[in-house]
Order: sequence, then C-alpha cells, then structure tokens
Amino acid sequence: MDTMTLSPVWKKLLARQLQANIEKLGPSESYVSLATVRLDGTPANRTVVFRGFAGEHHEHDLGWESDLLTITCDQRSAKVKEIKKNPSYEVNWWMSGTQEQFRLHGHIHVYGDQHQIDRSLSSHVRNTKDATKTPVQADWWEGERRRQWLALGDGLRATFAQEAPGEPKIQEPDNQVRRLEIDNVDEQGRFCNKDAAKQALLDKGYKNFVLLFLTVSRVDHLLLPTGERTLYEQQQDGWRTVPLTG
Ligand SMILES: Cc1cc2nc3c(=O)[nH]c(=O)nc-3n(C[C@H](O)[C@H](O)[C@H](O)COP(=O)(O)O)c2cc1C
Repeated sequence: MDTMTLSPVWKKLLARQLQANIEKLGPSESYVSLATVRLDGTPANRTVVFRGFAGEHHEHDLGWESDLLTITCDQRSAKVKEIKKNPSYEVNWWMSGTQEQFRLHGHIHVYGDQHQIDRSLSSHVRNTKDATKTPVQADWWEGERRRQWLALGDGLRATFAQEAPGEPKIQEPDNQVRRLEIDNVDEQGRFCNKDAAKQALLDKGYKNFVLLFLTVSRVDHLLLPTGERTLYEQQQDGWRTVPLTG
C-alpha cells in the first residue's frame, strides 16, 4: 500500500503517459471527457482541457505539489450549476498514442469570484521546499486562478466576456470582441488593457472565469495492448493498488 502522498502511483503514471502522448501526438492529448450529473439526474458529458495539477507546471518547478486536477470554465455554464448540486464526476481520458484509458472518479470544487474555496482542499497542496507554507492560505487559490487566466489564449479569454454559453443565439453583435489581450498587470494586480472598452471586458471576463479543482478517489487504468487493468483506490491510510480482470 502506498503511504499518504500528493504524488501517488496513479498520478506519476498519468503525468508520465500524458507527457509521452503529447510528445507523440500534440497538446490535444490533454482533452478529456468530463461527466457530471444534470439537475434532472441524467448524465452530462463534455470535452474539457486538463490544465495541469494545481500549483504545478509541466516544465518548471513552481515549488508546489498537489493531487488536484485543474480545469478552467465559465461560471455561467451548465456544468457549474450541476457541480454545485452534485460534485461527483467521472473523467474518461483516452490516450491514443499509448493506447490506454484512465477513468478518474471523485469530487469537483468550483473556485471563482462567487465560489469560495473549500478549506478541506488545503490538504491536497504542499510546498515542496518549505513545509511551514503548508496549508496554503486563501490567496494561494486566487494566485492559481490568476496564473490560469494569464495562460489562456487571447481568443479563449474573450469568450468569457461574451454572451453566457448555452443560450439560444439571437444575433451576434457586429462589434463582438474576439481577442482580449492582457497588456500588463498593474500594482494592484489588475489585468490591464490600454483600450478602455477592452478593459471593461477584461474585468467582466475575469468575473466569469472559474477553476474546477478535481479531487481523485479512484482511478481505473486500462492498458489496451496488454489488456492489463488496474484499480487505484484511496483508503483511510493511503492508496491501494488492485489488479483487475479486463
Ligand atoms: C477540444 C475541446 C476542448 C474544450 N475545453 C473546454 C474547457 O476546458 N472548459 C470548458 O468549460 N469547456 C470546454 N469545451 C467546451 C465544452 O465541451 C462544452 O461545450 C461547454 O463547456 C459547455 O458545457 P456545459 O453546457 O456542459 O457546461 C471544450 C470543447 C472542445 C471540443
């Protein structure tokens, strides 16, 4: 049995295989299917981008380690309402370059202007250099949100200031802004654009920008070429690894 760690066996495996798949086939290997439960109890499923483990960067050591998957989304989207009612999720990740499937199960926590962070999430984050900095304070999560907002492409960032997603389209405004650049960040930490109209949209967009943090309690891994199937399951005292029949 694996002892309590923020880099359990399944995480190391997933990170290693994702890297291998991205090198082979490109960044689309970080697209995953995220299933939630609709308000009426029926299943909902959509493609989202895995944005990394909270506090971590796939190339640079940021000094933090966590076992929380991060996804970005618009707080006005249906999935946020669904998650607030029922935080259970399943992620299905097909990595075609290495022919393997990861099915992850756990709970989603929404974080943004209107969604406070659940204190229990602190135990999922650790400073790798200075243990006194753990557990993390409230502003650590805001730092994560800011980091992800900065990392978005200008085109995707603009969508957060457009009409709410999933509504019937009436008429697209002629002057719809398609790109929202961040020219600089001022001393108060505000994201700035030199154009006043775009500045208002940047402020509006950031309000709609939320992070989804996914805790993981179970991982079902299937390696297709060999048929090997393994279950990683969280127990009171750590992670248990169980080989399964295919
Ligand atoms: C390749 C791809 C990547 C996507 N990535 C995201 C994402 O990271 N976050 C997101 O909210 N929606 C993403 N979407 C859009 C969702 O699939 C979905 O259409 C949208 O979020 C609305 O879903 P909902 O109504 O269930 O909330 C992506 C779609 C595709 C095709």
